[in-house]
Amino acid sequence: MRRERTSAEWIDYFDANEANWSDIPWHRGAEAALEPIRPLVRSLQAWQLGETSEARRLKTAAKRHAYEIGDPDFVTAMDLFIAEEQRHGEALGRWLDAVGAERLQRDLGDSLFRFFRHARPNIEVWTTVVAMIETIAVVYYSSVRRAIPSPLLQAICEQILRDEMPHLEFQTDRLRLLLRNRRPVWLWLTVRAQEVFFAGMVLVVWLAHRRMFVAGRHTFLSYVRATFRHMRHAWRAMRACEHAATTAQKPTAAEPPSRLEGWLH
Ligand SMILES: [Fe+2]
Ligand SMILES: [Fe+2]
Repeated sequence: MRRERTSAEWIDYFDANEANWSDIPWHRGAEAALEPIRPLVRSLQAWQLGETSEARRLKTAAKRHAYEIGDPDFVTAMDLFIAEEQRHGEALGRWLDAVGAERLQRDLGDSLFRFFRHARPNIEVWTTVVAMIETIAVVYYSSVRRAIPSPLLQAICEQILRDEMPHLEFQTDRLRLLLRNRRPVWLWLTVRAQEVFFAGMVLVVWLAHRRMFVAGRHTFLSYVRATFRHMRHAWRAMRACEHAATTAQKPTAAEPPSRLEGWLH
């Protein structure tokens, strides 16, 4: 079992990973007609809005947490993580521009997720919700890649997928730290509550984006199985409390810090 990365190591990873976005073939344009895929593009418009959040409250929660544990680097690591999510939003936005679809300013599903995240803005709630979104995002972007035959969008999705797996490790590292000293009975209850919340989130995302999942060759059951399979990896990672600090590898962009690779196969 790998140890958690330090905040300084995550800063190095996020800094280096930015260079991977230089390989996106923007010159190709969308190479897709809007009308035949308009219902799918509607889903992508809503998802793009979610990726563009400024995350001011998350930044506040991260600062408070960093102060409490004496780890100022965590604030920078969180800023870089949020910047990477915004890069996803900007890339999807550029693709929407290219295909001739507008970028949304508002969406009901996005507002709902913001409400839940803001209901209790501490770092554990934030990190848990973001980890769940990352998990579903892996299934979503895999579906987009299969559903919309635009080489540019497929390249964007592939880079986002490469980013999202380390993102999930970034979240599970934090949750492992936060849950480390929780008594077994409270830990058990925490995970049961997370399972219930995650099941609700999986259902809501299916209802909002089912056209994309179906076009990406999912049925409701295969989608539920895929999301829960990924989330079970995350639950296992966040509960494992081994600290092999001396044996860990420093992550680099060329070699993403992810033992979650292979999920897509
Ligand atoms: Fe993302
Ligand atoms: Fe992410």
